[in-house]
Amino acid sequence: ALPRDLEGRRVVISAGGTREPLDPVRYLGNRSSGRQGYALARVAAHRGADVTLVAAHTADLADPAGVRVIRVGTAEELRSVMLAESDGADAVVMAAAVADFRPVSQVGHKIKKTDQDPEPLALTRNPDILAELVEARNADKLAASLIVGFAAETGDPTTSALEHGRAKLARKGCDLLVVNTVGDGQAFEVEDNSGWLLGGDGTEQPIPFGAKSRLAATLWDAVTRQLSQQ
Ligand code: C5P
Repeated sequence: ALPRDLEGRRVVISAGGTREPLDPVRYLGNRSSGRQGYALARVAAHRGADVTLVAAHTADLADPAGVRVIRVGTAEELRSVMLAESDGADAVVMAAAVADFRPVSQVGHKIKKTDQDPEPLALTRNPDILAELVEARNADKLAASLIVGFAAETGDPTTSALEHGRAKLARKGCDLLVVNTVGDGQAFEVEDNSGWLLGGDGTEQPIPFGAKSRLAATLWDAVTRQLSQQ
């Protein structure tokens, strides 16, 4: 049986990939399935938490039992829902894949094909929701206790995925960061994940290759540990 160690805790989880419309039929999107965020919501609800799942575009996943699900489309919509829902929460987990950029303008009608070469696509930056949540919390503008981020990393010839993760934790200032290694049947559109769980206090815990529900259990263990120390 799962421990009911999240009883009385309110948690907010984002999942899936945002979609940034170009016109009524086209968008910029990403390959996130939402499976890791859904696994986090399912496990947290089993362990007794009051769970709000803020879902951007996902694969065809069933709503987890006993979880409040709020649907969003764009990064801007996700931002406003996350800021509102996070207030007073015990833990906030940003598992969503947020588009870093969106088209500068959204055309109200379907863009037509012409004989001309297309204009380059003009993009603008989306807000960094995770960084904003941390900033609001640190300025006492948001009463969320613990803020968790995710980072999907491949590593490159000079820097490993773990080192990229460490740098991201420092940059974002969150309390916990899950670093996922991407590729080789991991992270996107699949059932399994592995990586590291990095703490703002310098702790580093390897996460063995396994089901996204196992990663979820490991993360909630760390969250309950940190919440009980506050
Ligand atoms: O910088 P990067 O996108 O790799 O960071 C990933 C983490 O930041 C994830 O937790 C993701 O949900 C969050 N994020 C965000 N807003 C963005 C981009 C990423 O909250 N615009």
